[in-house]
Amino acid sequence: MTTGTRSALYTPLCDLLGIRYPICQAGMGFVARSGLAAAVSEAGGLGVLAAAHNTPEGLREEIRRVREATDKPFGVDVLFATMRAAGEEVDRFTDAVRGSIDVTLEERVPVLVAGLGNPGPVTAEAHRLGMKVMALCGNVKQARDHAASGVDVVIAQGHEAGGHTGRIAGLVLIPAIVDAVRPVPVVAAGGIADGRGLVAALALGAVGVWLGTRFIATAEAYAHDNYKQKIVAIDEEGTVVTRASSGKPCRLIRNNFTREWEKREGEIQPFPVQLSRVGFPASIQARERGDIENGSAACGQSAGLIHGVRPVRQVIEAMVDEARAVLARLPQ
Ligand SMILES: Cc1cc2nc3c(=O)[nH]c(=O)nc-3n(C[C@H](O)[C@H](O)[C@H](O)COP(=O)(O)O)c2cc1C
Repeated sequence: MTTGTRSALYTPLCDLLGIRYPICQAGMGFVARSGLAAAVSEAGGLGVLAAAHNTPEGLREEIRRVREATDKPFGVDVLFATMRAAGEEVDRFTDAVRGSIDVTLEERVPVLVAGLGNPGPVTAEAHRLGMKVMALCGNVKQARDHAASGVDVVIAQGHEAGGHTGRIAGLVLIPAIVDAVRPVPVVAAGGIADGRGLVAALALGAVGVWLGTRFIATAEAYAHDNYKQKIVAIDEEGTVVTRASSGKPCRLIRNNFTREWEKREGEIQPFPVQLSRVGFPASIQARERGDIENGSAACGQSAGLIHGVRPVRQVIEAMVDEARAVLARLPQ
């Protein structure tokens, strides 16, 4: 290990967020709870709680649990979903979304992440409270909107990703977004599961990575063991993008649920109606109860790179060690 390779992994994201490694754990609905988030932050990355499956008060308890387990920085990921009520002319946050945002601000969580939509309306308030704001996007236009609304970090999420995903593969999307929003730092998401992916993301101009699927297959993730083992068992062809779960394109493990809805395409309701009617119960069925064949189990193509369920610390340390080895092998 040389000083050069060590410092290559200490990026501006580490300074910005106060973390040791430029590795963020995605705020995944149902899965990313206090046990996972605290373990990732303790191991030197950024742990992130998902708000999507929780009530605002449940989220507040989770935030407090993370604080009991670690004094390291962490984040909360909120899907900034909006709806337009009948007779109204503007979109508004749903009550659940507004409640989750308010709790995150009241608790002054170090990092607020917008998993969907634009956090613009609350970015100034978060900054006033000393918080950082990150926002996910799947194309250059959304990335520009995020940068214009003052986010601290844009997360560029490629088509490979688990969960809601766009149409552009990471190899194109990440450098395109780096160029479009410079000097705003970019974190790469989608398809990254090991040290090679981390180095590749840095080579594309990103300052860090945001991993979902890799962190489901960990001891600390809140997920049924059948779900974790299925991620280990399937290869890179084992997922499919469908609107069946939420009404928006979402990458899931290919199973009876996705096949059944392929035949019922015309019945799929728009987001978030499909999510509350179908996606929520189907997600609980797969992710918590372990009915992985008939429920909705979000998962990325990186399942093809994941060969075991490991403790979080091992995942992060193996990734950092591999990244250092890759960097040391590259010609100077
Ligand atoms: C089970 C699961 C649930 C997810 N839920 C959310 C969510 O609630 N909010 C969000 O911003 N992203 C969510 N995502 C997407 C992740 O934030 C992340 O962008 C993605 O997992 C990265 O790709 P990867 O899975 O290939 O690592 C979810 C992903 C998965 C696999």
